[in-house]
Amino acid sequence: MDVIIVNDNLEGCTLGAKIISDVVKTKSNAVLGLATGKTPIPLYGELVKKHNEEGLDFTNVKSFNLDEYYNVPPTKEGSYHYFMNYQLFSKINIKKENTHVPNGMAQDVEKECNEYEENIRNAGGIDIQLLGIGRDGHIGFNEPSCSLTSRTRLEALMEDTREANISDFGSIELMPHYAITMGIGTIMEAKEILLLAFGESKQDAVKGLVEGPITSMCPASILQMHPNVKVIIDIAASKKLSKIDFYKEKTKLIINNEK
Ligand code: PGA
Repeated sequence: MDVIIVNDNLEGCTLGAKIISDVVKTKSNAVLGLATGKTPIPLYGELVKKHNEEGLDFTNVKSFNLDEYYNVPPTKEGSYHYFMNYQLFSKINIKKENTHVPNGMAQDVEKECNEYEENIRNAGGIDIQLLGIGRDGHIGFNEPSCSLTSRTRLEALMEDTREANISDFGSIELMPHYAITMGIGTIMEAKEILLLAFGESKQDAVKGLVEGPITSMCPASILQMHPNVKVIIDIAASKKLSKIDFYKEKTKLIINNEK
């Protein structure tokens, strides 16, 4: 796991966008695993900029999002369909049919989840998976105590997660209780993983992710078992880590390689 410490979220998202755009430049039919939430918004802004100003081409790119709220129509503002269209898809030249977000309105949820997995496999697997992390250490909507080999499925949301995401729907009463999420096993099959975490509220989650024991109580900690993970954090999120000097040295090495 490469831990990269940057000054702030904008620096982190600029670097993250460069890492993703390098994948797309190297492989024009790259398969991107995408995330929602507040964290990656500036990263999507950077990708849009690269598309507009440098001609970054998404014609043959496919995307699979991590999750979607259950029973929320894709046209509703809090849905992750809406988020992705607004933040990214409508602003770049990705083909609509190449973008995938779980269907939270599916009548047969099990079928939807199995087909989602099958679609990822048929696309050749995910080349790079972008992740945020919840304050409780969740990735996707895989909450503490979930199976570390889980697949795409319907999951319940913890109260802390519902509170953290209130801005999606405006009040706790309107926040959904369930979501369809890729599983931990699904995420672990991505060839490369890029996780972003910024701000003081992510300190405990980052500590568990990077230096904690591997435990389902911090689902992100399983990423320690993945061979190709970059974790980009800001100084505020790094404060509980014990090996900060080492990560800072490594950051210099990685950033030089990225130039
Ligand atoms: P956030 O959410 O980016 O809004 O902090 C991250 C997550 O819950 O995975």
